[in-house]
Amino acid sequence: MLEQLESTYTQALAELETITHSDALHEWERRYLGKKGAVTLALRATGQLPKDERAAFGKRANEIKNALAGAFTGREEMIRQHELARSLEEGEIDVTLPGRRVPTGGLHPATQTLRRIYAIWAEMGFQVYRSRDVEDDDTNFTLLNIPPHHPARDMWDTFHTTTPGVILRTHTSPGQIRAMHDYGENGTAPIRVILPGMCYRYEQLSARSEIQFNQVEGLAVGRHIHMTDLKGTIAEFARRMFGAEKRVRFRGSYFPFTEPSIEVDVECMICGGDGCPVCKYTGWVEISGAGMVHPVVLQNGGYDPTEWSGFAFGMGPERMAMNVNGIKDIRYFWQNDLRFLEQF
Ligand code: DAH
Repeated sequence: MLEQLESTYTQALAELETITHSDALHEWERRYLGKKGAVTLALRATGQLPKDERAAFGKRANEIKNALAGAFTGREEMIRQHELARSLEEGEIDVTLPGRRVPTGGLHPATQTLRRIYAIWAEMGFQVYRSRDVEDDDTNFTLLNIPPHHPARDMWDTFHTTTPGVILRTHTSPGQIRAMHDYGENGTAPIRVILPGMCYRYEQLSARSEIQFNQVEGLAVGRHIHMTDLKGTIAEFARRMFGAEKRVRFRGSYFPFTEPSIEVDVECMICGGDGCPVCKYTGWVEISGAGMVHPVVLQNGGYDPTEWSGFAFGMGPERMAMNVNGIKDIRYFWQNDLRFLEQF
């Protein structure tokens, strides 16, 4: 029996050496030191030995039991340390790894252009007046000297609502009438405003025309405002917007609400005037319609046109953004295609 116990002891120690996981370790403990473990059973069997062998066997069996218990504790501690180290290693965070980029939004190119335009006009003393998108026919046309059935109405293809006489504004010019009434103090106060906003036209979509687009209207009313003020102001705007080296030219034109009327061109921003597809090989791009406010319009705004005068203009921010950035198709602006928008 002693021989058998010794060989169990040797085997138990050898097995313990190979154990690397706590599960296996506890299985080992159960097998040798547990209630029905080999060493425990051997100790219990001491009584069945002949009397003279009992003392020596019991002593040795206890020694072995204690030796194995000690070895177990040592191994247990070693495995615990290992497992801790392994779990630290596995859960380790490398703080030097580069982070994942969070996609950020940006301002729409039309908004960027609008904000530049606001800033320039603000520096020149113009405040922003926000007029309405849904207009009445009178303000959009008649009060701007375009009576019903006037052929000039053909210049604006109109979206009508189901309410007769209520339309989507085709241009920002009706804001002139509203600004004169709101700020003019019954035709006694001068005005300097810009009126930005979305306009709507029932048009065939093409690379050059959209059914919705922004305009920035401008209106100055005062006692001694002349054509030279208009030209100087627009030229100064163009210098600030496009650069001092760009040339500006004025062409005679026609709008029912201004007299005289002009259109303003600036040297092409892509080719610098040499001619390219963006400027249709003319070297110039149109940035604004403008003119001296028609006496009928001043009157409709509450001013006496024999004492008051003014200038007005209407510019297209998307057109400007197209010319500055070489964008070939105006339809990109409202398609919400990130491939386009992310370039700005
Ligand atoms: N409202 C005109 C349009 O949509 C643009 C315009 C031209 C506005 C001349 C003006 C102006 O104020 O004076 O085509």
